[in-house]
Amino acid sequence: MKSSAELVRTAWNLGVMVPSFNVPYLPMVEPIVRATRDQDAVAFVAVARLEWVKFESRSLSAVMEEYERWQDPKHVRLHLDHVPVMDEDHQRVDVLAIIKEAIALGYQSVMVDGSRLALVDNIRATRAVVELAHAAGIACEAELGAVLGHEDGPLPPYEELFKSGKGFTRVEEARQFVRESGCDWLSVAIGNIHGAVSQAARDNKKIEARLDLDHLGRLREATDIPLVLHGGSGVCREDVRAGIKRGLAKVNVGTEIRQAYEVALKASGAVAVAQQAVHARTAELIRDYFGIQGLRAALMGKT
Ligand code: 13P
Repeated sequence: MKSSAELVRTAWNLGVMVPSFNVPYLPMVEPIVRATRDQDAVAFVAVARLEWVKFESRSLSAVMEEYERWQDPKHVRLHLDHVPVMDEDHQRVDVLAIIKEAIALGYQSVMVDGSRLALVDNIRATRAVVELAHAAGIACEAELGAVLGHEDGPLPPYEELFKSGKGFTRVEEARQFVRESGCDWLSVAIGNIHGAVSQAARDNKKIEARLDLDHLGRLREATDIPLVLHGGSGVCREDVRAGIKRGLAKVNVGTEIRQAYEVALKASGAVAVAQQAVHARTAELIRDYFGIQGLRAALMGKT
């Protein structure tokens, strides 16, 4: 079976990408796997710490159990998304304990997010997780730069943020970070923002983000590893597609499919209807937005 690391490398070399769909609710796992199979595509099912703390995915083991019920190794892999060293509420997190638990459960790749730390501290925290992940034979993703949106309170006006490049991943820092941390994939800030997760704002429609493609090109050159786009919901489609050609080999999508689930559940009161909504939206994203349907054989080879 092709590892997640090999999969993302293959996508990167081909100029395509593997989407990563977050599951804040356990019943989302089944329609994501089904939509990926229906589109003959490849995707990650992912869970971030905040999704079992602030939403309803319960725990690492609950997600693994649900994943095992529906998994299809020809099409999907399980990824542990954002384990922050310092979380969105500025609390320190016992990252290593969570990563060790995920590895023991069989998660196929992990992410450590030290982006709220100073560069040297981010490198040190990431390095420790990379060592654990590599000892277990799996890939480790890290983040450098400020992908805003998870924090409480209003964001600065988007156009201001984009024009100033405030919080964007710096090229020279990225070069040093990748060399010294040993991470396999790097999440970068290039105009992308996360959908809100606070109670007050989580139902809001995300504003359309753009990507600084020239900056992405410079980051690719400096890092020479697969780059990851977080905040993949509602980014300008042309920018995402151009970004994939310039080194984005994994794109994370949360808000769009979460809101599809929540809206349908609220309207119908039926989990099955909400699952249908997730299936429809995931299929649409794979086919119409990312344009990566039918890529399974190219990415997985003979499985
Ligand atoms: P969105 O919720 O903005 O799609 O971001 C998801 C994400 O980046 C998860 O890591």
